[in-house]
Amino acid sequence: MRSSRSLSGVKLGTYYVVHMPEPDDFDFWRERARGLIQCDVPPDRIAWVEPGGSGDLFAHGKRRMPVPPKDAPPVRANRRFVSLARNAALHSDPERFALLYRLLWRLQANPRIMEDKADLDVRKLEELDKNVRRDSHKMHAFVRFRLVEDEEGDEHYVAWFEPDHHILRANASFFMRRFSNMRWSILTPRGSLHWDGETMAEGPPADRSDAPSGDPTEDLWRSYYASIFNPARLKIGAMLKEMPKKYWKNMPEAALIPELVAGAQKRESAMVEKGTLEFEERPETLAAIDKAIHACRKCPIGQLDNHAVMGEGPQDAALMIVGEQPGDQEDQQGRPFVGPAGQLLDAHLEKVGIDRRAAYVTNTVKHFKYVQRGKRRIHQSPGAKEIDTCRWWIESERAIVQPKLILAMGASAARGMLGKTVSITKVRGEPIALEDGSELWVTAHPSYLLRLDGPAREEQARLFDADLAAVKERLEELAG
Ligand code: URA
Repeated sequence: MRSSRSLSGVKLGTYYVVHMPEPDDFDFWRERARGLIQCDVPPDRIAWVEPGGSGDLFAHGKRRMPVPPKDAPPVRANRRFVSLARNAALHSDPERFALLYRLLWRLQANPRIMEDKADLDVRKLEELDKNVRRDSHKMHAFVRFRLVEDEEGDEHYVAWFEPDHHILRANASFFMRRFSNMRWSILTPRGSLHWDGETMAEGPPADRSDAPSGDPTEDLWRSYYASIFNPARLKIGAMLKEMPKKYWKNMPEAALIPELVAGAQKRESAMVEKGTLEFEERPETLAAIDKAIHACRKCPIGQLDNHAVMGEGPQDAALMIVGEQPGDQEDQQGRPFVGPAGQLLDAHLEKVGIDRRAAYVTNTVKHFKYVQRGKRRIHQSPGAKEIDTCRWWIESERAIVQPKLILAMGASAARGMLGKTVSITKVRGEPIALEDGSELWVTAHPSYLLRLDGPAREEQARLFDADLAAVKERLEELAG
């Protein structure tokens, strides 16, 4: 336990004021928090002030931070805390930085505190994290760009969005990857982002009137939405939860919702009669696939309480990396391979020198299959029928991205590519020619490595690295 006496000579009664340079600057908070903990400054002796916050209230507080003693013990924080805290720091709750500091302080005395589900601070942290993830998810799903021409007559796409939290900067890379070939701006009341195809610039907060409110692509959105709208799957409660009314005003297709809902039953009977209750034409853009997979209920996995997760990466990537299906984290964040398997994958890619950002990363099955056990959702492998049903989407992505080389990780991904089950040990390490002229390379799934330990894990990690290294070499030859 830390003593109530100051270890570093910081006078009792002193309090510190930390002015945050940005409302979402987790790294700045972390650096200050570490120093303050090493100087033994208790949570109630610090005021964390946001930009524009009322620092005047703390006019007598010290702004200069105390210097930690040379022999101060290192600050301890486990991975779960850091991962939740990084997200919670983006929340708009003005007390968030104080909460983070209080928890970090308490973690020094009790490193297991994050496991205590009843602890009020831990619960609050989890709630902030959840709100921020939800806000990001809504941003990914509901940002709608409108086409404008700039003074030079060039195309520029502009979107207006009103996030609840400080999520803009944290989501910049998502939009950069998704719309890498477009010039776009996202304007929000909390700041703006501008991408010119090469660099990202940040701008000041914007006003709704700065954004265009209609353009010719809106009719396309509307007819597209009407065409993918499946009346047989209409669940109004779920739809409102997914697409709360507050986002409707920025979404051209939302104008159709009341009409579509009203006509749903009639259309359903007509579609059943005609047998057209299916997607018939391949989408021609990645954005269209993204929209369509969210409406896909062709197999039972799509009926669960989950979200479709679209692939991500450059549309002209030479390498496509394919996994099995999104996991719990991916489902919540709306991005492939961001959970534990994704982190392991990233580490191995980095080790062999493959740049993940240059690859198109996706999954064979687009929805997370799970069984609910209490509060936890436990991963279930998709069945062969489910994989085969979902092949429609991965094939549609392949048709657009046209990768030279596809790396399928695990048996489900291999089946998704080949339409039949193969043994990983038999096919790994050698290219398999595909009909469209591309090459398929098969390897183990990183989750398999995660389930092993000791020498078995080391051996599988070695084989995995060897497969990745072979892929890298082959890519270089193909680029040659
Ligand atoms: N496992 C997968 O196969 N894909 C993901 O996106 C995450 C975990």
